[in-house]
Amino acid sequence: MVSKNMLTPQWLIRLEAPEDAHAIDLMQDEAFGPGRFALTSSRIREGVDAANDLCFVGLIDGVIAGSVRLTPIMIGETPAMLLGPLTVSPNYKNRGLGKALLKTAKEMAEKKGIGTILLVGDAPYYAPAGYTQVPHGRISLPGPVDPNRLLAQCLNGAELPQGMVRGGHGEHA
Ligand SMILES: CC(C)(COP(=O)(O)OP(=O)(O)OC[C@H]1O[C@@H](n2cnc3c(N)ncnc32)[C@H](O)[C@@H]1OP(=O)(O)O)[C@@H](O)C(=O)NCCC(=O)NCCS
Repeated sequence: MVSKNMLTPQWLIRLEAPEDAHAIDLMQDEAFGPGRFALTSSRIREGVDAANDLCFVGLIDGVIAGSVRLTPIMIGETPAMLLGPLTVSPNYKNRGLGKALLKTAKEMAEKKGIGTILLVGDAPYYAPAGYTQVPHGRISLPGPVDPNRLLAQCLNGAELPQGMVRGGHGEHA
């Protein structure tokens, strides 16, 4: 009998490089469609560079098969990171790459002293990676979001901040 492991090719996770951007764009288009730019989380990221040292790609057979990015945000007066998009190409789904990218992003964020990672996503997928629902009303986004999909994970002994989210670290809009 062939085990699941024998069918699962190994991936390589490394920091995102500038030349990966096009492949990541195509993958995000495929996964989320053009409507992704209207999402509140996308609007928070507008005009803010993702953290170069906290963006990762997963390669399978030398091809970019997944991507995760973290972008600096403020929650009230507290610096934090917004995770997303997390994307795995439909061709490489269900092989554990999404979870592996989440784990890498979390470990590196922890090493860099990040206090909180926030995201908008499906709780059942993110809960095993340590993300829990933000208590309703504690964190506000500058646009519509289903409060049940607003998830966060605190690192380095930080407490969950409160307040309005805006893109960037400390710059005032
Ligand atoms: C969601 C996504 C990142 C998962 O990546 P992946 O590499 O296929 O996921 P993994 O292999 O790490 O995990 C697969 C497991 O997660 C489950 N899963 C996948 N998407 C899920 C979701 N939205 N909600 C709950 N569970 C989910 C699968 O059923 C599978 O379960 P199993 O391990 O019990 O079989 C990928 O499917 C994707 O890019 N989807 C489109 C974009 C998207 O929706 N991204 C954000 C999610 S809110």
